[in-house]
Amino acid sequence: TRISKSCLDKMMAYYKSDKSLIKLDYESALKQVSISGEPVFVHKVEYYAWTEIDDESMLDRALNQIYPRIKENEELQNIRREVLLNPGPATTTDSVKYAQVQSDICPRELEFGGLMEWCAEKLTSFAAGTDEYTTVMFGCSGTGADEAMVCSVVPEDGRLLVIDNGSYGNRLAKIAKVHKLNFDVFESSTYEPIDLKALEKVLSSKKYTHLAAVYHETTTGLLNPIGEICTMAHSFGMTTIVDAVSAYCGIPMDLKTLGIDFMASTSNKNIQGMAGVGFVICNKKALEATKDIPIRNYYLNLWDQYQYFQKTKQTRFTPPVQTFYALRQAIIETEVETVEKRAERYTACWNILVDTVKKLGLKMLVKEENQSHLITAILEPDVPGYSFEGLHDFAKEYAFTIYPGKLGNINTFRIANIGDIQPEEMQRFCGKLTEYMKSIGL
Ligand SMILES: Cc1ncc(COP(=O)(O)O)c(C=O)c1O
Repeated sequence: TRISKSCLDKMMAYYKSDKSLIKLDYESALKQVSISGEPVFVHKVEYYAWTEIDDESMLDRALNQIYPRIKENEELQNIRREVLLNPGPATTTDSVKYAQVQSDICPRELEFGGLMEWCAEKLTSFAAGTDEYTTVMFGCSGTGADEAMVCSVVPEDGRLLVIDNGSYGNRLAKIAKVHKLNFDVFESSTYEPIDLKALEKVLSSKKYTHLAAVYHETTTGLLNPIGEICTMAHSFGMTTIVDAVSAYCGIPMDLKTLGIDFMASTSNKNIQGMAGVGFVICNKKALEATKDIPIRNYYLNLWDQYQYFQKTKQTRFTPPVQTFYALRQAIIETEVETVEKRAERYTACWNILVDTVKKLGLKMLVKEENQSHLITAILEPDVPGYSFEGLHDFAKEYAFTIYPGKLGNINTFRIANIGDIQPEEMQRFCGKLTEYMKSIGL
């Protein structure tokens, strides 16, 4: 319970106002000051197996109702901790894992609609004001959210410019092609910053109504100057579409300030939930403006999904029920940690990694000042004993999973530091990385 000084003063005043109160539970004082107008906020968490034991009846409940539930979960609680240093799905907390185990429920029940609505509102609130922005959710991966966004918002007479400086920008262009949109590609280096002057020149042709870009290119760890890009696009009257799959909740952001109209992400990266919910945070006015665009994809249509949910509190098609329970828990944990502190924790892990990389004399693909602090692409060492599989298998023995990264003819291995990982764990991984590199003679 977090109590402000003014609230505490009121609770104390209430306690002192009644001489007959010798012992008073603080909850009772809180209730009293709440009745007298102090705002008190509560998260009602119904699914934890825990109870307070103050008297015999509570002990009885603990023994007969709560303890059996804990026993039931014992199998689950013995899961080995795996630290995923691949760029998602990211490592989750045990509480997020256990949150999936729930009674079966028909997702058409009001109760589940309320849970989804709560999730949508909270997802919006991590990146934007809920009065101007809204979140549209689908049962899908991050690419599904990207596809929903790209195929739903560009009108037939519109023209899209896609910035391609890595696999995910390239994927946005592929989606545009599949849906036969009018579009062009602005190509840029995969490891050097975008030339904003060159981009401005292209935009100033006024040929384009929409711009699509990736916030953080997970391929390399290159962070794009998304605020500058989108503000520039807005100055030319364009609508902006951003894949923030690997940036959302790992970097503090405000979509309005950045000039982002549509932003896609997923439940399994920095929000630290399970894979299965893809979502698009939309500027409400920009979303409303898409309502007459002919539907290009039956399942992944933003306007249809939004409207149906507004009316019914249901998704049009079956949602991933257990993933939503995990997402609810992940959201609570994100609120408790805050996005700012999460970004600091990620950066603390990244600093440890970069320190080790430098000590080992390894080279990074992207200059430090252009990196996201979320994933690092490291050039493979030119030592005969090195193989990605060797490093992967060695790390896996110690419960660390790493990921390769091929960029044309440049071979890298990539270390992500997103998800529920702590600096001590990154330190331990760096110890193992050093051990492996020494073993091959580096
Ligand atoms: C920037 C970006 N966009 C899209 C995706 C695709 O997400 P998914 O694999 O969940 O479809 C990823 C996955 O890593 C990503 O990093």
